[in-house]
Amino acid sequence: MSKAYNIAVIGGDGTGPEVAAEGVKVLKAAAAKFDFKLDFTDFDYGGDRYIRTNEVLPESAASELEQFDSIFLGAIGHPDVKPGILEKGILLKLRFELDQYINLRPVKLFPGVETPVMGKGPEEIDYVVVRENSGGIYTGTGGFSMKGTENEVAVQSMVYTYHQVARCLKYAFEYTRKRGRRNTLGLVGKTNVLTYVFDLWERVFNEMGEADYSDIRRDYYHVDATCMWMIKNPEWFDVLVTGNMFGDIITDLGAMTQGGMGIAAGGNINPEGVSMFEPIGGSAPKYTGQNVINPLAAICAGAMMLDELGETEAAIAIEKCVADVTANKLKSLAAGRMGYRTTEVGDLVAEGL
Ligand code: IPM
Ligand code: MG
Repeated sequence: MSKAYNIAVIGGDGTGPEVAAEGVKVLKAAAAKFDFKLDFTDFDYGGDRYIRTNEVLPESAASELEQFDSIFLGAIGHPDVKPGILEKGILLKLRFELDQYINLRPVKLFPGVETPVMGKGPEEIDYVVVRENSGGIYTGTGGFSMKGTENEVAVQSMVYTYHQVARCLKYAFEYTRKRGRRNTLGLVGKTNVLTYVFDLWERVFNEMGEADYSDIRRDYYHVDATCMWMIKNPEWFDVLVTGNMFGDIITDLGAMTQGGMGIAAGGNINPEGVSMFEPIGGSAPKYTGQNVINPLAAICAGAMMLDELGETEAAIAIEKCVADVTANKLKSLAAGRMGYRTTEVGDLVAEGL
């Protein structure tokens, strides 16, 4: 009997619903071809709902979403809502409440895609960042005192527990082994300045590596140097693991090296629970409703979702079709310059399947 999966779809804001629709189109084509069932349920979380109801996320959201096999997200961020409200109230809240403690972000240059990194191609730019997704500055204690005076103090601390660090590193080691490309895991930190938090990371990294993963080579990079090597020698990297804030920053840089936000996908993963997959590019509100935005990032996020669900063959097939489209069809990845409409790009990948 073929397997069946219930998928929650949060189209979200701006161009989010448009790219999510193309992702769903391709997922449906993959299900038909590889003989499994997908059942989609839409949720209207996002800026418009917030403006209408004054509620960012219903109390029951996390517990409802927990009933699904996976969550597929378009984008969160609305030009008429003050920055921070939706990002913190929807995206980060779901990541935390569903304990999606891994943010998996492949940096992969597809064939035919132009990278701003001179002299590097798909062979050289192909690695994965494992970003810790549940702690760090993102949840750190903080606050103001004497706000509005010249003595104002603002604090936001980078807080990590052993438990958070260990579970993230374990995932990263296991992922590196499963990926089986170069069996190299690089820890990205700042041990020369953040001598408490990254001392903890480095200690657990080495202890765990020595005890359980002697087949995996361990490297260490400072985060600033990592930015340098991501441009100069991206071929050094196989899998990188890092904390929440550094992971946020270096994956935007990584996205640019793979041709831009139009193709960068990510997964917010709870290996023991419900995960959420998204294009990492944001809602690009100025392109809303024009059918010009690139849906490939959402389509790749869909492939990552299938891989996590265990439909690996289908995930690989989608990636192959995306590679075919970038190599042979699209003129550019940029919105409005692809040579195709958003819906046509979805059709190309779906037909390829
Ligand atoms: C990302 C985004 C989010 C983050 C924002 C929108 C809260 O930049 O997914 O990388 O910082 O994690
Ligand atoms: Mg980011």
